[in-house]
Formats: sequence, structure tokens, C-alpha cells
Amino acid sequence: MEDRRRLWLAAIAAATDEVALREVDSRLFGKKGEVQDLVRSVSALQKEDRPTAGKAINLLKQEIEQALAAQQERVSQAALSKAVANVDFDPSESSPRRLAGALHPITIVQNELVDLFTSMGFSWQDGPEVESEHFNFDALNIPRDHPARESQDTFWLNDGNLLRTHTSPVQIRTMLRYCKNGFEPPLKVIVPGRCFRAETVDRSHEHTFYQMEGLVVDRFVSTANLIHTMKTCLRVVLGRDDLKVRLRPGFFPFVEPGFELDVNCPFCNGKGCSVCKQSGWIEILPCGMVHPNVLRAGGIDPEVYTGFAFGMGLQRVVMLRYGIDDIRLFMGGDQRFLQQFPEVLR
Ligand code: PHE
Repeated sequence: MEDRRRLWLAAIAAATDEVALREVDSRLFGKKGEVQDLVRSVSALQKEDRPTAGKAINLLKQEIEQALAAQQERVSQAALSKAVANVDFDPSESSPRRLAGALHPITIVQNELVDLFTSMGFSWQDGPEVESEHFNFDALNIPRDHPARESQDTFWLNDGNLLRTHTSPVQIRTMLRYCKNGFEPPLKVIVPGRCFRAETVDRSHEHTFYQMEGLVVDRFVSTANLIHTMKTCLRVVLGRDDLKVRLRPGFFPFVEPGFELDVNCPFCNGKGCSVCKQSGWIEILPCGMVHPNVLRAGGIDPEVYTGFAFGMGLQRVVMLRYGIDDIRLFMGGDQRFLQQFPEVLR
């Protein structure tokens, strides 16, 4: 027995990796394993010899089991230290800065605008980016042969739909949805969203951009309400109390009268600088009183109700607010640009 003991202990000690250990394990303790054989041999002994032999064999079996377990522990420890040694590991080094996600500057400003407008009683509406010709043009008083279609170069899809060129189609969708559900104006909504135009991209034009539409319909809504709302909005977004606005006539088939709203240049306070091209004013958004045909297309009686609408180019506002001079930066995905807006995800 002593011979076997020495043989087995030597075999265990010689197994220095997982594979060898598994082999030794099955050679000793497998179904026809040598240790198991020895245990079984007890039953072949004379009855009176069995207790002493059995005890000795059990002790030996335990010893071998322990030796195997100890060797297993040694082998796995060695494997671990080897793995760690292969990794460049310097416990004294400080941990790398974790890159946290942050909001895109357009989202930051959009969130502020949504907060502001919802606090004024507006609700947030959404609409599809793939739009029908009807909602994008016809229902907005832009029939097929109207020259105004030329100013909105459009991505057409094979099925006759298109990528919406502005958020204005949601004006119609909202009016229809409200009316279908039996609501009556007042109706106050904003529609932030992504729009597309087949533009040649340069520092002030993008094929993909963000607008925020506003629509208010009620009895007796006037241009004065429009101006007040826009002043409040710009005061908050541009963080200034001393802003002046002015309206110039602007043509959009879905408003009458239509305006371009200018704000006195926040960079030079209206004195004239390179940003406002010495004019003292910056064109900020188109707006106007909703055209009766548009109210009609939305199922609202223009004899009873009037409304105003505006279409804010979000990038434009963000550019003014942060002094950004190239619209391509927004979609460029350049980390050096984006990391300058560290407002973290909320
Ligand atoms: N939808 C127009 C555009 O994108 C902007 C606009 C909206 C003008 C609402 C007037 C009223 O050009």
C-alpha cells in the first residue's frame, strides 16, 4: 500500500496544469480508478481483517483526495498569477476618466424651449418624419404648381411620400386630431422635430435640421399675441431682458400676413457687427397669422377662429446662443465640438 501511496502522491505532484490534473483525477477516482479499486478490494478480505484494512484504506483515500484538492488549488492560483502577469497592470496608476454621455446642444435648447412653452400652456405634439405630399404641401396652401414648392427642395420617396421639409404639416395633423375628438379651440401646441431638405451643405445650410413649430388657434388671436409670445421665448432662450424684435413682411403660403421676425443683435446690442452684417438686426424666425385655407384644411372655421404660427430653426437659435458659426458642426459628430456642452443626461 505504501508503494501505491507514493506513486499516487507523485502523480498528483507531477500534474501541473488543469488537463493533467483531470487525467490524474479520473485515473485515481474514476469508475475504474485505482483508489476506488483499492476501496472495493476490502470486501474480498476475510471478515475479521476488514475493519483494520478498511480504516487504513479510508485514511489513505482521504489523504489522496486532500493532496489532489491542494494541487488543484495550487494550479489555479498559478494560472491566475500568470494571467495577471501578462496584463499591463499598475495598481498605482489613477483610473482613466470615465466618459459620461451628454446632451447634444440642440437637445439642451429644445428641452428649455419645451419647458418654457409647456409652462405657458402649450402641449407637445409629434408627427411623422416621412410625410405625405398632402400634409407637407397641399393642406398648407401650397398646391403642386405653386412656386413656393421650389424653395423647399424635397427628398421624395418611391412610394410618393417625402421626408418632411418642415414641421408645419403637424399643424394640420393636430387640428384634425383635435377636431375629430370633439375638442374646440383654444389650441396651443409646439412641435419640435427633425426636417429634411435636398440642400447643398455649407456653413449655413444642412440637409437635416431641427425646427420647432408653434401653433395657437383661438377666438381673437392677433399679431400682438404672436409678438408677445416670441419676445418671451427669445428672452428666455437668449437669456436677455433687453431684446427688441421687429417684424418684416415674409411670404409663406400658409400664413397671411406672414412675417420674418428679427431680434436686435445680441452680440453688438444693435450697434452693428460682423454677426449681424452691420445691420443691428438678426433674422430669427418666420411666423404669421394662420391662413384661412389652412384652418379649413384642419377642420376649423376661419370665420370664428384665428391663429398664429411660427417655425423656429433650432440650430439657428443654438448658434446665436453659443456663438457657433458653422451649422455642419451639429451633425458632424466631432467630439471636440460636442464635449463643449457638458450638460449630462437627465
Ligand atoms: N414652415 C416654414 C419653413 O420651414 C416656417 C414657418 C412656420 C413660417 C410657420 C410661418 C409659419 O420655412
